[in-house]
Amino acid sequence: MCGIIGILGRGDVADQLVDALKRLEYRGYDSTGIATLQDGRIARRRAEGKLRNLEVKLASDPLPGRTGIGHTRWATHGRPTEANAHPHATDRLALVHNGIIENYRELRFALEDEGVRFSSETDTEVVAQAVSHEMASGLDPQAAVLAVLPRLRGAFALAFLFEGEEDLMIGARRGSPLAVGYGDGEMFLGSDALALAPFSDDITYLEEGDVVVATRAGASFFDESGTPVARRRQRIPVGVFAAEKGNHRHYMIKEIYEQPEVVARTLAPHLDIEQAPALDWKAQQRLTITACGTAFYAGLVAKYWFERLGRLPVEIDVASEFRYREAPLPEKGLMIVVSQSGETADTLAGLRYAKAHGQTVLAVVNVPTSSMAREADLVAQTHAGPEIGVASTKAFTCQLATLFALALQAGRARGHVSAQEAQALAETVQRVPGLMHEAMALEPQIEALARDLAKARDVLYFGRGAAFPIAMEGALKLKEISYIHAEGYAAGELKHGPIALIDETTPVVVVAPYDHLFEKTISNMQEVAARGGRIVLITDEEGAAHAHIDTLATLVLPKMDPLVAPIAYAVPVQLIAYHTAVFMGKDVDQPRNLAKSVTVE
Ligand code: F6R
Repeated sequence: MCGIIGILGRGDVADQLVDALKRLEYRGYDSTGIATLQDGRIARRRAEGKLRNLEVKLASDPLPGRTGIGHTRWATHGRPTEANAHPHATDRLALVHNGIIENYRELRFALEDEGVRFSSETDTEVVAQAVSHEMASGLDPQAAVLAVLPRLRGAFALAFLFEGEEDLMIGARRGSPLAVGYGDGEMFLGSDALALAPFSDDITYLEEGDVVVATRAGASFFDESGTPVARRRQRIPVGVFAAEKGNHRHYMIKEIYEQPEVVARTLAPHLDIEQAPALDWKAQQRLTITACGTAFYAGLVAKYWFERLGRLPVEIDVASEFRYREAPLPEKGLMIVVSQSGETADTLAGLRYAKAHGQTVLAVVNVPTSSMAREADLVAQTHAGPEIGVASTKAFTCQLATLFALALQAGRARGHVSAQEAQALAETVQRVPGLMHEAMALEPQIEALARDLAKARDVLYFGRGAAFPIAMEGALKLKEISYIHAEGYAAGELKHGPIALIDETTPVVVVAPYDHLFEKTISNMQEVAARGGRIVLITDEEGAAHAHIDTLATLVLPKMDPLVAPIAYAVPVQLIAYHTAVFMGKDVDQPRNLAKSVTVE
């Protein structure tokens, strides 16, 4: 979602604001803007579209000032125009916001009745006007903010600066993350530590409902009722955030290539099979998993693993459904949430629902300081490092690696996997990074294939067993970055509807490791071929030898244990999406309409 930054600086802050927005652009890129105080007065520059448009404006019309805020937007209310771009300002204050103010209409109508005039279509401006209105009636900035916050419904992180107040910045958090960074005679506010990384490694995360009043000398924290509270400062090493593109053309391909290394790094702490598990797997009757998007597909693969290795029934649902369907949960049950950002609003709400219903929550998250990591009972961190490409790649395979290790742990603890089998499986999964590396060798073949796929209007993906979620992930990757319509189906579902779509213009990507279901998938492929469908088969050496079918392309991975195949098979589906989108000239790192961290529901 939107990215926010605020700086009380020692010199002019515009360059620092823009620099931080570059690191926040992954959160949204519909429009950008900054505001500073010039001789105590608010001045703004805003631009539609990507950050470079704002940079062009600033080059010809610079914005001096030592106190400033900035924003990169993922539009929720109001089109991505300059008028709707943040910061929003009145004659008293300027404000940036990440989240949604759900009751903005009623607040707006009430303010309009009192003669306040609005200049944008956004929900955010209502907060700016309401705080300004309180100040007009005599409240100081802090009292005005504290008076307005309880009236707001929804999720937000806010950063304010005020006319005439060179040494003041106020931030507030409910539902969306916000961090304070301490400098030497400087102070920073940002959506995440990544935004603050070059400025400060001395960080405090606001907790739910917190308000922070920052000056260059320090920061004071208050809870929702305005009572002062103490919040922990922690060192977040700047090196953790080294997120440069290097020689790669896009973050996405860099992140695809990083997978062997980060998957190995993620697996390492989990594969000591003698280690006593932190969870009482034996006591579990059932496991509940929830997540969104790609992370949900990681959870779906894990269902196969937990059921197979742990004989543990799994219920899995997308978090946006799970959170509202009042699902009955087992007494003292276990819930796993899966999330790269650890901030996804629906998944976080699912976590809270589970906790409120007596579940122990284990969070599989990539960002260790995230809300989910802080609120869960247990954390299994994926060590993917910062994922900047909006389409998730390395975070997904690290989630898979972690979930595999957990399923193995469950199987061992529940007595369904012997010590010897566990050792063998641990060795098997440790070979996966090497297999992923070998899978990269398919890139030239995939690049050539992409030229063909780029002509398609629709692409279907099929798979069976744990390859089915990989088919869905492949379809999601393709549609989000190439805008080609794509769907993933369980291969056995083909004849129950999707087969009607097959003709010579519809490529069908079949994800089929050579396993006990391979023959069945091949039969489904024959049904596709009989109707003129053009098949892209992703399989291994044995599968290729047994397929006996004409294909548009056969992508052959090395021989591997089918149990771990989903992790390695993610690589070719990612590369297919990447090269198709690149060939079509799409912006693969920042696809239209999307944002990385979905902190609104
Ligand atoms: C797709 C993608 C999204 C995310 C989803 C959940 O490429 O990245 O579907 O997987 O928004 O995000 P996290 O994992 O941060 O909870």
